[in-house]
Amino acid sequence: MPRAPDCATLLELKAAVGASGWLDSAAEVAPYLDDFRRLFHGATPLVLLPQSTGEVAQILRLCSRDEVAVVPHGGNTGYCGGATPDESGSQIVLSMRRMNRVREIDPANFSLIVEAGCTLSVVQAAARAANRLFPLSLGSEGSAQIGGNIATNAGGTAVLRYGMMRDLVLGLEVVLADGRVLPALGKLRKDNTGYDVKSLFVGSEGTLGVITAASLKLFPLPADSATALVGVQSPAQALELLVRLRGSAGDQITAFELLPRRAVELAVQYIDGVADPLADAAHWYVLVEISASEPDGGATTSLAEELAAAAAQSLVSDAIIAASLAQAEAMWKLRESIPAAQTRHGASLKHDLSVPISALPRLIDRGTALAARIVPDGETIAYGHAGDGNLHFNVSQRPGSERAAFLAKKAPLEDALFDLTESLGGSFSAEHGIGRLRAAQLARRTDPVEFSLMRDLKRTLDPKGIMNPGKLLA
Ligand code: MLT
Ligand code: ZN
Repeated sequence: MPRAPDCATLLELKAAVGASGWLDSAAEVAPYLDDFRRLFHGATPLVLLPQSTGEVAQILRLCSRDEVAVVPHGGNTGYCGGATPDESGSQIVLSMRRMNRVREIDPANFSLIVEAGCTLSVVQAAARAANRLFPLSLGSEGSAQIGGNIATNAGGTAVLRYGMMRDLVLGLEVVLADGRVLPALGKLRKDNTGYDVKSLFVGSEGTLGVITAASLKLFPLPADSATALVGVQSPAQALELLVRLRGSAGDQITAFELLPRRAVELAVQYIDGVADPLADAAHWYVLVEISASEPDGGATTSLAEELAAAAAQSLVSDAIIAASLAQAEAMWKLRESIPAAQTRHGASLKHDLSVPISALPRLIDRGTALAARIVPDGETIAYGHAGDGNLHFNVSQRPGSERAAFLAKKAPLEDALFDLTESLGGSFSAEHGIGRLRAAQLARRTDPVEFSLMRDLKRTLDPKGIMNPGKLLA
């Protein structure tokens, strides 16, 4: 069991990072105590801001020796409270924000090496400067850090084409709970030398070690792209459109996001500068993007042809293809404003579900019916990454209803939606992870053999239980 650090340990920890590498006043540590959604509020005696792998190693050697708990902290954009210390006031926060160097770009190998505290947009920009693409793309990319993206196996809007964060990692440098460094920063696409140890840390949410740097895959920068907002009558029609587009454009589809009318209305109502570009309201919208390697405008032509053919068969009620980069950006702004608009609208019960893509219409139909029964004072606003089977199945409080009574339905709604998702062969946490929010559900819903393997791994890599206690495996 970890324990509270005494004064001597705190002094040694401060010495490990030097005078500018720690914070301990109430005002300075305050930003590290709340998670992004303000679901949890913790306490800490010390926030450490190491600048090198050596400093992280020294911190973990000390914490391991004295059995002090460590909470790794990235851009604090997670949805599950994975980077927030608990209320005990005994856990040290380890912010990675000063480890933010791009260590290497190897354009011929289509790879780069970055430190954990680089924001996702810095990684994307470093790749672009070398005429390469780093494809992970999220609404929070300006503040989310790559170390956190890896620790939570982030998803986002380009998973359909490029996979999740796990698929983009070639190698990792990790400081283990006892302070040893795992120097697995390989740049290879092929390496069959035993167990893939580094991959254990992808999605481990800081419970097995601290990721300090990563070697990541890059791709050719698309030379041409086309973005369209498409109105459809139902999720089933959206699915049919996806299947058709995959048949014709194949791998060129880089995004396929599904939005209900209500989500569009909220974004237009609450977020400045957001407009609905379609003349007629549709029940559902698809934001689709395709990209190509030839700079000849072919992407727009082929998307226009496909959408015209789909419209001729009444699969599409209305569609607009962005005529400029600014128009494409406006469509993405509409999509990416939805979470903030929903927050401004009132309380919401959020779920991050994935099912086989073919089961999405059933998830939406049955889930909406369940939510209407369990939460009559809420309205379902399910949107997200339909192209990869992931929906943010959120239920918003209806204006005028009572907040506490609405929030009291959290547990029964969650159970019903997670049972439904399970029955469709899906996952109750598609891309947001487990953190503290979903730890009890993980324990309940994971196969016992798999869960005991997780526990065994945790005991092996972190025998003193100092790494992010209370998260993932609570
Ligand atoms: C998104 O896709 O917008 C994010 O994952 C946030 C959300 O759950 O709403
Ligand atoms: Zn998402």
